[in-house]
Amino acid sequence: MKARSSNHYDVIIIGAGAAGLMCAATAGYRGRRVLVLDHANKPGKKILMSGGGRCNFTNLNSTPANFLSDNPHFCISALRRYTPQAFLELVERHGIEHEEKAAGQLFCKDSAKDIVNMLLTECEWAGAGIRMKTSVNNITQGSEGYQVNTSSGTLTCESLVVACGGLSIPTMGATGFGYDLARQFGLRVLPTRAGLVPFTLHPELKQQLAPLSGVSCPVDAACNNQHFRDPMLVTHRGLSGPSMLQVSSFWQPGDSLIINLLPGRNIREELASLRKQKPQSTVAQYLAWHLPKRFAQAFNELYGWRGPLQSYKNSDIEQIADTLGQWTVKPAGTEGYRTAEVTLGGVDTRQLSSKTMATLEHPSLYFIGEVVDVTGHLGGHNFQWAWASGVAAGQHV
Ligand code: FDA
Repeated sequence: MKARSSNHYDVIIIGAGAAGLMCAATAGYRGRRVLVLDHANKPGKKILMSGGGRCNFTNLNSTPANFLSDNPHFCISALRRYTPQAFLELVERHGIEHEEKAAGQLFCKDSAKDIVNMLLTECEWAGAGIRMKTSVNNITQGSEGYQVNTSSGTLTCESLVVACGGLSIPTMGATGFGYDLARQFGLRVLPTRAGLVPFTLHPELKQQLAPLSGVSCPVDAACNNQHFRDPMLVTHRGLSGPSMLQVSSFWQPGDSLIINLLPGRNIREELASLRKQKPQSTVAQYLAWHLPKRFAQAFNELYGWRGPLQSYKNSDIEQIADTLGQWTVKPAGTEGYRTAEVTLGGVDTRQLSSKTMATLEHPSLYFIGEVVDVTGHLGGHNFQWAWASGVAAGQHV
């Protein structure tokens, strides 16, 4: 038998992010000779910056309904086989302290570094190598498998895993390399766009909302029939906060957002009954009872609701209730990949095996994590997809 060169690996994984590291450890434990390549200076950079530095590493309530994809059933198999509970057990085996913030959202108590260190430890125990600051120039396919030409020489491998993530936060090392590779091997790449991203506003509205900058309030935000009841934050650039990030994934240029500033309240009835019981009370007072003080004041200013409620006709009350319950905002755009948490679209899953993440045409070429057209809602779902798809591939490469 011909001896393999030391530059030959069973598995080469491009991308030392969440999906790539998880895949590397899983394959390494199976006895595969694994090398992870990454052009960045350190692994797991996005994990480190995630969840405000404390990494919302999974969501106990994650189901396939929390994911967007052109082929919605694709993610079911991997998510079923590697559950949030399985990742939590791994976290607990490593003694990482964690806490549940909003329902099901698990964060590190201390630092996101704990998750990166855990993944690096797992890779070490599994014997998987990681080579940072290594760019991949190009890849060719031959009789020996794949030839990977890198800034530190030529490597070969039997299985190639593309785990280079999406386009969000280019300053963190994001590139379109995964999509280029997919195209090189004849795969379809669905149009990409920024997701989980703040909205920008047209100058006039931005100026009107300037006094609200820094104020957050719980709202129900809707776009294209998707509703999210979460806080909204007004910023000096536009609208952000969890509710805005969530709806941004469903927003297309030109669409309006419908924001209920007082979700769960019957505004029309409450204002009408207030007018009857306390005719001298004002809209500003009503707002101040239910919204953060600064928001209530500025919003009231914005719409110029002055005078006692007794001076308001039924049609005025109707209009105020509509403004508060269905505040309609047409964003100018989003902040784009510069600040987006994820990239929507990507490698078309119809060309991948949902069991192994291998491409149907080239069974030793795999795509995992964010580069694939599977995008989670905010709240730990995106990492759960990275872990689950990484494990699915790691069990087969
Ligand atoms: P990821 O982007 O993690 O890794 C890709 C790797 O490939 C990188 O290390 C990169 O350097 C490397 N790479 C790219 N191009 C390359 C090339 N040409 N050659 C070599 N290497 C290359 N999700 C969640 O569930 N909970 C959360 O709390 C957050 N929070 C969060 C905050 C912020 C600010 C962002 C930007 C994102 C999040 N996310 C999140 C989303 C989450 O970070 C994301 O879904 C996963 O990191 C995706 O994992 P991947 O491994 O697919 O890509």
